[in-house]
Amino acid sequence: MRIDIITVLPEILESPFSHSIIKRAQEKGLAEIHIHNLRDFSEDKHRRVDDYSFGKGAGMVMAIQPVEKAIESLKAERNYDEIIFTTPDGDVFNQKEANNLSMMKNIIILCGHYKGIDQRIRDFYITKEISVGDYVLTGGELAAAIITDAVVRLIPGVLSDETSALTDSFQDNLLSPPVYTRPAEYKGMKVPEILLSGNDKLVDDWKQEQAIERTKKLRPDLYKKYLED
Ligand code: ADE
Repeated sequence: MRIDIITVLPEILESPFSHSIIKRAQEKGLAEIHIHNLRDFSEDKHRRVDDYSFGKGAGMVMAIQPVEKAIESLKAERNYDEIIFTTPDGDVFNQKEANNLSMMKNIIILCGHYKGIDQRIRDFYITKEISVGDYVLTGGELAAAIITDAVVRLIPGVLSDETSALTDSFQDNLLSPPVYTRPAEYKGMKVPEILLSGNDKLVDDWKQEQAIERTKKLRPDLYKKYLED
C-alpha cells in the first residue's frame, strides 16, 4: 500500500513513521509513505499556499493552485483509491474505516491547515473527509499520522503475530480484556487465578466475558453496537 501525505509542515511527520512497527512495515515493502511539502507546488514567488478568505471572516484559507498541482502531479503517476482531507468537520475515524482503508492500494491524505481550504478543492478532488475526534487540532498533520498508523498496522504481514490485530479493542466493537504479566503476585496484588490455570478454553471464555463486561461499563455506546452486529 502507498500513502502520499501532502502537508505544509512536513517536519511534523518526520518522526511518527520512523520507528517500530510502521518503520518495519516500510522496510519490508508492505507500506510506502511519502511526505510532500505543499509549498513545493506553489507558483507564488514567496511559495505561499494560503490567502485571505472572501467575504467576512478572519483566518487564512488554503488556496486552490498549490493543492491542485500537488494532487495532479501524484495522479499523473498512478490511480488513487481515495483522496482524504483531514478536518474536524469530517466523518469521525474509527476501526471500521481503518480496516476499509487498509485494503486500498494508493491513497492521498491532504492535511488541512489555517481556517480551512478553498471549498472547490473539497468539491472536485476530495473523496473522503476524516476527523480524528470532536476537538480541534492546530493542523491536520497529527490526524494524518493517526490515520496512517491505524491503517498500516492492519496491512497483512505488518504485525508479526497475525492474530493480534484480530483481538484488538474495537475489532468486534468490544474493548480488550485486561492483561497481566509476571509476577503472579506483586505486593499482595494477584493475577486472576484462571489465567494461571493452563486451561485454554476457560481462559478464552474469561477473556470474552471480561471484554463484554468492560465494554458494557466503560463504553455503553459500543456495547449497543456489539449487540446489534
Ligand atoms: N484538523 C484540526 N482538527 C482536526 C481533527 N479533529 N481531525 C482531523 N483534522 C483536524
